[in-house]
Amino acid sequence: MTEPVENDPAADLKRQVGVAAAALVEDGMVVGLGTGSTANYVIDSLGERWATGLRFVAIPSSERSAARAKALGIEIVGFGSHPVIDLNIDGADEIQRGTLNLIKGLGGALLREKIVAAASNRMVVVADESKLVQRLGEHAAVPVEVSPFGWESTARQLGEMGARVAPRHDRMGRLFVTDGGNMILDCALGQLEDPAATEVAIRAIVGVFECGLFIGRASLALVAGKTGVERYEVG
Ligand code: A5P
Repeated sequence: MTEPVENDPAADLKRQVGVAAAALVEDGMVVGLGTGSTANYVIDSLGERWATGLRFVAIPSSERSAARAKALGIEIVGFGSHPVIDLNIDGADEIQRGTLNLIKGLGGALLREKIVAAASNRMVVVADESKLVQRLGEHAAVPVEVSPFGWESTARQLGEMGARVAPRHDRMGRLFVTDGGNMILDCALGQLEDPAATEVAIRAIVGVFECGLFIGRASLALVAGKTGVERYEVG
């Protein structure tokens, strides 16, 4: 879980990218709201812009982001009325330099985050520089959202792929439950040679709803470091 940010040493960097990304939102847009401590700064900055007259509608990728946005007065809509998102802004756990392929889901929202990303014309990822890696899997395990029914069997099959599989727990030591009522299996796979192939292999296992590999989805990363906010683009 990545969200409690009291005394977060990267808080200032996250705030900087949050403000920079929120500045990309224009009147009339349909905006995807990410989840996590960095995405929270985006939402807060959008709330400030909303208060000064910016008008857009938002589709959040988690109940907690929805609650945060609603509290700021931001208008929340659904895919029924707004099936296509103009701009999705979300955090990441790892960002591969060059490709902007991502690992996401340490916050447990990966299925909704991927649904939002898949419906978006443009995805901008926001992070502090600690998230940049040469190879995905350098630091983070790949979170996999699975059905609670039969999860032990799903975990065994992920293990046969070479993953060290750990069911995610909450702070009370209970099995973590996602907004959709599912479980997360954190799959340590080491550095990934071919993340696209790994994504395909994980998603082929029955019982898997989605995995936290986001391949070819982000076109811009705003990354804050000591010298300010850097832009990384692909495509
Ligand atoms: C949520 O499920 C995740 O994908 C987050 O986007 C990711 O964990 C980044 O979170 P932080 O901004 O809190 O590091």
